[in-house]
Amino acid sequence: MSILLRMRGITKEFPGVVALDNVELAVEHGEIHALMGENGAGKSTLMKVLSGVYPHGDYSGEILLDGEECSFNGISDSEKAGIAIIHQELALVPQLSVAENIYLGNERTRGPGFIDWGRTASMAREVLRRVGLDEDPTAPVSALSVGRQQLVEIAKALSKRVRLLILDEPTSALNEAESDNLLGLLLELKEQGITSILISHKLGEVTRVADSVTVLRDGKAIETLSTSAGRVEEDRIIRGMVGRDLDERYPERAADIGEVRFEVRDWTVDHPTQVGRRVVDGAGLEIRRGEIVGLAGLMGAGRTELAMSVFGRSYGRYVDGTVYKDGKPVHLRDVGDAIAAGIAYVPEDRKELGLILDDDIRRNLTLAGLHRVSRRAVIDPAREAVAAEEMRAGMRVKSNGVFQTTGDLSGGNQQKVVLGKWMFAEPDLLILDEPTRGIDVGAKYEIYVIVQRLAAEGACVLLISSELPELLGMCDRVYAMCEGRITGEVPRDKADQETLMKLMTTTKA
Ligand SMILES: Nc1ncnc2c1ncn2[C@@H]1O[C@H](COP(=O)(O)OP(=O)(O)OP(=O)(O)O)[C@@H](O)[C@H]1O
Ligand SMILES: [Mg+2]
Repeated sequence: MSILLRMRGITKEFPGVVALDNVELAVEHGEIHALMGENGAGKSTLMKVLSGVYPHGDYSGEILLDGEECSFNGISDSEKAGIAIIHQELALVPQLSVAENIYLGNERTRGPGFIDWGRTASMAREVLRRVGLDEDPTAPVSALSVGRQQLVEIAKALSKRVRLLILDEPTSALNEAESDNLLGLLLELKEQGITSILISHKLGEVTRVADSVTVLRDGKAIETLSTSAGRVEEDRIIRGMVGRDLDERYPERAADIGEVRFEVRDWTVDHPTQVGRRVVDGAGLEIRRGEIVGLAGLMGAGRTELAMSVFGRSYGRYVDGTVYKDGKPVHLRDVGDAIAAGIAYVPEDRKELGLILDDDIRRNLTLAGLHRVSRRAVIDPAREAVAAEEMRAGMRVKSNGVFQTTGDLSGGNQQKVVLGKWMFAEPDLLILDEPTRGIDVGAKYEIYVIVQRLAAEGACVLLISSELPELLGMCDRVYAMCEGRITGEVPRDKADQETLMKLMTTTKA
C-alpha cells in the first residue's frame, strides 16, 4: 500500500494553548484510519488543519497528498484536492431541502446564474442512493433524523468526488442501527477506493472498521497501531490515550439509599404536533434519596420525552399524571417550577439547549446555581471564580482556567461544562440524558465519580443511557421503557443486558 496523506511536524497554537505539537500522521490509500484521544487532545484541530479551516500559514509543518505539498487557504481548496470533512457539529442548513444542501456552494447551473433544478434533483437522488437514502430530495433537511442528516452530509461529500473523507465523531448522536448503517457505508466506500479518517471515542467501532489507529494525547501523536496483524488491544489504545492503565471503568460505590423522594404516577403525554399520538403512556417510577436509577430503552421508547415532560412540561402535550416530592404532589407547569422543585435536567442535545457559547466557562458553570456564590442576591466574583475552578478541575475540563470562552473548548469539554453547570446547582433530582456521549473514557470515569458523589450527598439521580454497560455499572435499579410504557424494573443484583433487552423490546400485546 502507498501513502495517500502525510502530515509532517504539524504544530498549531491558540493563545495560551499548544493544540498540536509536532504531529506526524500517515494515512494509506484506501484505508480507514481512526483517530482517538481524550477530549481536547487535538483531533478536531488536526483535521481542521488538514481541510484548510485553518489556512496555510496558520500552523507550521507540511501536508503532502500523494507526495505533493498542499497549502490550502480555505476549505474550498481542500475540496478541490478531494478532501471532504464532516464536522462534529453538523453543518447542514435546516431550512433548505436535501438537494439544495447537497449542492450548496456547488450548484448545478444552466448558464450563468440559473440553477438547473431538474438536474439538481436527479443528481441528488443518485448520490442519495449511494449512501442508502431513499429520501425525497425536495424534503427540508430539518425533517430528517440526525442519522439521516449525517448521510446527507456524506452524500454531499460524494457529490464532490471525494478521495479522502474525514468524519469527526459521526456516530456520537446516532442510535445503534444508524451507527451500524454508517459504519457499513464506510466499509462500502472503502471498497470503492475512498480513504477515510474516522474520529471516534467508541473503541468497539474503531476496532471493528479501522485498519489503523493513531492515538493523540495533549497535542502529540503517541503511536499508530495497525489492526491488520489481528485485533488491536483496546487496553493499549486506552493507555495511549490517558497515559496510564485504566483498570476500572466504573468507580466502586457503597450506596446509602433512603426514603422515596420523587415519584411519578400515571404520566401520560402526547406528541406536541401529531394529535392523539401517545409518546408516554401511564408511566410510573420512584426514586429514593441517594439512589441512582437508570432508564433503559431503545430509540423512540419515550425516555427523553418522559424526562423532558416531567421537567416542567418542556416536551409534548400533557395529558395526565402527577409528580410527588416527599409524598406531596408538586405542580410543574414550566421549567421555572421544575427548577424551584429542585429538579435539573441535562439534555442530550447539549449544543442546542445547554450553553452560552460566547460567555466564559465560569459563568456557564455557575449560572444555574448563582445563589451558591451570591451574598444578598449579589454575585461575589471571587467566590464565583473559586467555585467554578473547583468544578472545572474536578471534571478535568481542559482549558486555561475558567475565564476561557466556552465556545473555544473542544466538543467533549463543552459537554463537561453543561454537566458541571447542573451539578453545580446541587439539585434534589438530577436527570441526566446520555451524559457521556462524546466523552472520552478517562473523563467518563470522572463524571461517574461526580454523579456518585452527588448521590452520596443525598441527591436522586435518574440516568438515561443507551449504553447498557453504563447502566449496569452505575445504577442501583433500572427501569426499562418500550413504546412509551415502563415495561419493568430490575434491581442492580438482578440486572444484566439480556434481562434489560427483553424488557426494552416488550411491546403492547
Ligand atoms: N478556537 C480555539 N481557540 C482556542 N483554543 C482552542 C480553539 N479550538 C480548540 N482549542 C483548544 O485546542 C485543544 C484541542 O482541541 P480539539 O477540539 O482539537 O480537541 P479534540 O481532540 O477534538 O477533543 P474532543 O474529543 O473533545 O472533541 C483544546 O485544548 C481546545 O481547548
Ligand atoms: Mg473534537
